[in-house]
Amino acid sequence: MGDAVTYSREDEIAFITVDNPPVNALSLPVRQGLQDCMRQFANDSAAQIAILICDGRTFIAGADITEFDKPRQDPWLPEVVEEMEACDKVIIAAIHGTALGGGLETAMGCHYRCAVKSARLGLPEVTLGLLPGATGTQRLPRLIGVKEALDVMVSGRPMSAEVAFERGAVDELIEGQDLRAGATAYAMKLLDQGTKPRRIRDIEINQEGLGSKFFKEYRRSAERRTRGFFAPEQIIKCVEAAVTMPYDEAVQRESELFKECMKSAHSAAQRHLFFAERAANKVADVPRETPLREIKRVAVIGGGTMGGGIAMNFANAGIPVVMKEVNQEALSRGLGIIRNNYEATVKKGRMSSAQFERCMDLISGVTDYSGISEADLVIEAVFENMALKKEIFGELDKKAKAGAILASNTSTLNIDEIAAATNRPQDVIGWHFFAPANVMTLLEIVRGDKTAKDVIATSMAMAKTIRKTAVLVRVCFGFVGNRMFFPYVREAQRMVLEGVPTQRIDKVAFEWGMAMGPNAVADLSGLDVLDKVNNEWADKPDDPAYCRVITKLVERGHFGQKTGVGMYQYEGRKSIPNPEVAELARTEAAVLEIPQIEVSDEEIIERLMFSMVNEGALILQEGIAARPSDIDVVYAHGYGMPRYRGGPMHYADAVGIEKVVSSISKYRDRYGDLYWTPAALLTKLADSGKSFADWAREQGA
Ligand code: CAA
Repeated sequence: MGDAVTYSREDEIAFITVDNPPVNALSLPVRQGLQDCMRQFANDSAAQIAILICDGRTFIAGADITEFDKPRQDPWLPEVVEEMEACDKVIIAAIHGTALGGGLETAMGCHYRCAVKSARLGLPEVTLGLLPGATGTQRLPRLIGVKEALDVMVSGRPMSAEVAFERGAVDELIEGQDLRAGATAYAMKLLDQGTKPRRIRDIEINQEGLGSKFFKEYRRSAERRTRGFFAPEQIIKCVEAAVTMPYDEAVQRESELFKECMKSAHSAAQRHLFFAERAANKVADVPRETPLREIKRVAVIGGGTMGGGIAMNFANAGIPVVMKEVNQEALSRGLGIIRNNYEATVKKGRMSSAQFERCMDLISGVTDYSGISEADLVIEAVFENMALKKEIFGELDKKAKAGAILASNTSTLNIDEIAAATNRPQDVIGWHFFAPANVMTLLEIVRGDKTAKDVIATSMAMAKTIRKTAVLVRVCFGFVGNRMFFPYVREAQRMVLEGVPTQRIDKVAFEWGMAMGPNAVADLSGLDVLDKVNNEWADKPDDPAYCRVITKLVERGHFGQKTGVGMYQYEGRKSIPNPEVAELARTEAAVLEIPQIEVSDEEIIERLMFSMVNEGALILQEGIAARPSDIDVVYAHGYGMPRYRGGPMHYADAVGIEKVVSSISKYRDRYGDLYWTPAALLTKLADSGKSFADWAREQGA
């Protein structure tokens, strides 16, 4: 237990060294060790100054998140931080890697902070549905100012060491990477100057610019970015307390608000996603040490919106990419869209002109298969048509170099069938991007029956390089994301036939937290695209009511946003209700003898979510996804489900599986077996009083 933190001394300088891999999280032995070592320092008459430093890849990266669901064990971090600050000899934090959450709070308990330039400092608790509960909400405003501290805590985004230095959170920047030597020199300087401990709690908050409306206006400005989330408002309340209350009272307030966050369903969901994202990286039968194929050049077949977005991901990561189109006109159009996208990013100040030029230089275009033979990874991104895809893969089989990974961006089609068009099915894999491909963070990686393990491992690793969150899935129509999205749209469509206004369904879904409601999303994706996918689906439900309104709108040439009319009408991008939809729904409902019914808000959510959950359970039963949490990652990253719901499977666990099954059974009584038969896995869990999380643990997933 003593090894997580050690005490040593060189002449008058004491070193308190944390060594708790992988990220020096503040688990109990670290908190205890810090307290013990600090007391040792206080009692060591030969030591005049102490340096708190960490071994390994980073400074303390926060509280130990795995401890959050367990009973509290003392010493609690705020006590450790306060005790450290009270020490009457100077303690310096020496920072490398990331000082995050409780890590930065510990550093702020020290009297001074030095950091290497590559370090980053932040309070990302909000991303876990929490607030910095070890006096961080009280200290950071004192150090860097109220507005700046609010921005750091409400966004959760870390500051670079240089920014932290400019703002006063870091007192000394260390040149080079030798932190220990730099921190020692800094300590000597402070000793020579006779510097006394500087306690942040004693710093007066700078009240400049804090007029009576400051917090009201801050809340309003944060509203759009933080819609629905619980923790941001709690953070603002803490900072308000920092400004209006004596320090000790405000700390007490922080502690109360922290406990509320910790108990909240939001935090449970957001913490679930934190671990879900990391678990998604692990593939049971593909060991971590699997050798990777080298990817130095990439080719993208198809320069449409999707192909262009895909190419940008690689250029952004510094990887040269060649894009193939069928003729010069299409190619020029594709390259033009990429240029426009980058220019818009530069205009928004999110990219420098030099970065823009560098990225454009990395993207080239061809109208034949020349250049493709040099690529280590080829991604096909043409439209969703099996015959065309097979033709392209046949061609790639002839032209691509041996060992190249051949990926398809198909969103629904069978990777095994595509792979069979080549003599190298082991090299074929699905890389399903989500539109817009340069923005959305999800990548569904689809393994075929014959996909080689190193192709899977390389794909997962490349996803990280291009800053995507990858989830590995197996072959089925629509894979995980779209397969579950179909019932979601299906239910929205059915409710429209039952007389529920389009905009009401979307409003309820939006208020539940979805980025957009199902009807608005259908219009954005293109009703023609959805209709085409339905028609390509061999097992399309034998149900004349299935997505009937979409089918009828498509027959009239109304494809959604792109034609200006769909489930809504569009004036630019602004949507207004389309009266034609209500009328069409009434007519079709009469033909299909669908009764007009009252549907409550609760039922809207149940039908949208539980239809997805049931499909998710089938997906798990069939082994298409490895774990329920993988499905949650797909929905958090690819479909605009709010992180505070934790994804559909976590949501089902939070509601209770028994409740889910009883609601599904209620809809089966009303609508019959076709859609609403509870999946065997759901029934099994409900009968045994278990959750998806319990099931995953039992599976060792
Ligand atoms: N607690 C427990 N485990 C943690 C952890 C934490 N705070 N941070 C990371 N880990 C674990 C990860 O789960 C992962 O474990 P596996 O290898 O078993 O999957 C391992 O450490 C490595 O993490 P990453 O894969 O994320 O490594 P990375 O190098 O890509 O990123 C990092 C490193 C930037 C530190 C990133 O892990 C991270 O952002 N961690 C969370 C930081 C954070 O949110 N801190 C605040 C915690 S809340 C808090 O401190 C509350 C408070 O006020 C008291």
